[in-house]
Amino acid sequence: MAGGERRGFGRLIADEARFLHSLIVRPRTTGAVSPSGPALTKRMAGHVSPDEDLPVIELGPGTGVVTKALIERGVKPSRIIAIEYSPEFCAMIRDRFPGVTVIEGDAYDLDRTLGGRVDRISSVISSLPLVARPLEDRIRLVEAGLARMAPGKPFIQFSYLRKGPIETAPPTFTMEVSPWVWMNIPPARVWLYRQARA
Ligand SMILES: C[S@@+](CC[C@H](N)C(=O)[O-])C[C@H]1O[C@@H](n2cnc3c(N)ncnc32)[C@H](O)[C@@H]1O
Repeated sequence: MAGGERRGFGRLIADEARFLHSLIVRPRTTGAVSPSGPALTKRMAGHVSPDEDLPVIELGPGTGVVTKALIERGVKPSRIIAIEYSPEFCAMIRDRFPGVTVIEGDAYDLDRTLGGRVDRISSVISSLPLVARPLEDRIRLVEAGLARMAPGKPFIQFSYLRKGPIETAPPTFTMEVSPWVWMNIPPARVWLYRQARA
């Protein structure tokens, strides 16, 4: 095994350990047993347009697997605004992804957490464990994200649940779901929420 691969493998194990630690300390906000796999993060990032300048809001980046997929997709780091609760994960994202704006705060209080930094955005890409919060909070979050986007742009969310984190869309937005990503542990699907047409 080459040195780079060994380092890469070591980092993978270290990230799994940090994630597990976070799950033990903050089970409701961590919401998963390990970071999302590349098949899932690539599918999520595939819905973000790399060819524009508006910011992309990433919610709950954790160890940065989705951030990495966004950058690999061609999204400039300077466009990414990552909102994360855990100070440890915030430090990790700042260290690993120079140029990404990291805000330590509550994603559900989007307006206050963004603090007037941005008005219009391209999309939201979220790994938050939405079901840990009441349905009204989940819907309010999606609506707050969509209110900053152009019609047709997606709020991207993964979920392990068959019916997704929002079983029935309110009149304000539509829902679309991907096929199951079986190459993820556990298998997950990607939900896209978009503004309903007026
Ligand atoms: C399921 S993990 C996802 C991590 C990573 N993006 C992935 O896909 O593996 C959820 C992440 O959301 C963060 N989180 C949970 N609730 C949050 C909140 N209200 N505001 C900001 N971040 C939150 C957790 O700290 C954790 O890093």
